[in-house]
Amino acid sequence: MFKRLFQRESKKEAVSHGRSPYLIDLSNVVKAYKTPVGDFVALDSIDLQVDRGEFVAVIGKSGSGKTTLINMLTGIDRPTSGEVMVGGTAVHTLKEGPMAEWRGRNVGVIFQFFQLLPMLSCIENVMLPMDFCDMYTTRERKERALHLLDQVGLREHACKLPSEVSGGQQQRVAIARALANDPPILVADEPTGNLDSQTALSVIKLFEELVKQGKTILMVTHDQDLAKRVTRTIIISDGEIIDGHLARLFPDLSESELVGITHNLRTKTYQPHETIITQGAQAGTFYIVTKGTVDVLSQGEDGTPIVKEELQIGQQFGGDGIAGGGSYSATVQAGKTAVTLSTLDKETVIGLL
Ligand SMILES: Nc1ncnc2c1ncn2[C@@H]1O[C@H](COP(=O)(O)OP(=O)(O)O)[C@@H](O)[C@H]1O
Ligand SMILES: [Mg+2]
Repeated sequence: MFKRLFQRESKKEAVSHGRSPYLIDLSNVVKAYKTPVGDFVALDSIDLQVDRGEFVAVIGKSGSGKTTLINMLTGIDRPTSGEVMVGGTAVHTLKEGPMAEWRGRNVGVIFQFFQLLPMLSCIENVMLPMDFCDMYTTRERKERALHLLDQVGLREHACKLPSEVSGGQQQRVAIARALANDPPILVADEPTGNLDSQTALSVIKLFEELVKQGKTILMVTHDQDLAKRVTRTIIISDGEIIDGHLARLFPDLSESELVGITHNLRTKTYQPHETIITQGAQAGTFYIVTKGTVDVLSQGEDGTPIVKEELQIGQQFGGDGIAGGGSYSATVQAGKTAVTLSTLDKETVIGLL
C-alpha cells in the first residue's frame, strides 16, 4: 500500500550528471542479470549520492544486492542502465583497459577473503598496484609500500608470505594494497566477515583513521555493531535502497514501505546559523539531520531567542507541526557549521501518520 502511496516521482529531472557536486553519484542504476528463467533485477533504479569524507556502511540481507551495488562503483561490474559517476568520471562508459587504470588510481578495493597473491610477499603484494599504475618510480614504490605497511602496523612482516601472517594481518596487508596509489575512495565488501570480533574492530579503527585523513569509505557489513561506528548507513532491500535514518526513526514500517519513503527523500544544505523553519509558519516539510547539528530556539523572557535543544545527526524535526495540521512549534536554525538535512514533503508525512 505504501508503495503506491509513496510512488516515486517520475524520475526526477532526468539530469545528466555532467558535473555532480558529489564524489559518488549513482543515478537510476538498474542491474538485471540474465538467468534461465528470465531477467533477475538485482538493483532497481538506485539513486545514491556520497560526499567526500563519508564513511558509509551498506547493510542488508544476504542476496539483497550489496555486492552488486558496490561492484557498480568499482567498475568490476556494469549497470544495465543508469549512470555511475565517481569523481567526475562516468564509470559506466569506460572500456576494459581504461577502467582498470581508472580503478587502480581512484578506488582501493578490499575483499572478504583478502585476495592476496600467495606467492608474493606482503610488500610485493602492496607494490603490485603501483607497478600497474606507474604513478611512482621503482624506488618510491618500495618506500611507499613500507610506509603503508607501517601505517597498518605490519612493517616488520613486510617480507613474509601472506600464509605466514594471521587473517587479520592479511586483511591489513590488503588495506595497505588498496591504499597503494593513494586513491580517494576505498570500497570494502564484508572486510571483517572472516575475522574475529576483536580483529574486526581493529580494521574498523583503521578505516576511521583513514576517514580522518580524508578518505571516503563504503563498507558492506553484516555486523550491526560495526555499522554503528560509521557516519551513515544505507540498507539494501531486494535491490532497492532504504535510508538508515528513516529505518531508525520508523522502526515499525516494513522494508518495502521504507523503500518507498526513501525515494521521496530530498537533500538540503544550510549555512551556519541559517534559519531552517520559523515558529508559527505553516508546516510543510519534515527534516532529518544528516550532517552537522541544528539548534531549536525558543523565546526567552525578554523576547530574545535562546537555544532550547541541539539536535544531532539522525534526529528529526518539523513532524509535529505537520501532524497537527498547522504550524511549526519552534524556530530551528543551523548550528555552528553548515548542516545537511534530508527532507520529506507534507504529503509523504501525512501518509506515514
Ligand atoms: N552473475 C549473476 N547472475 C545471476 N544472478 C546474480 C548474479 N550475481 C548476483 N546475482 C543475484 O543477485 C542478487 C544480489 O546478489 P549480491 O549483490 O551478491 O547480494 P549480496 O551481496 O547482498 O548478498 C542475488 O539474488 C544473487 O543471486
Ligand atoms: Mg555480497
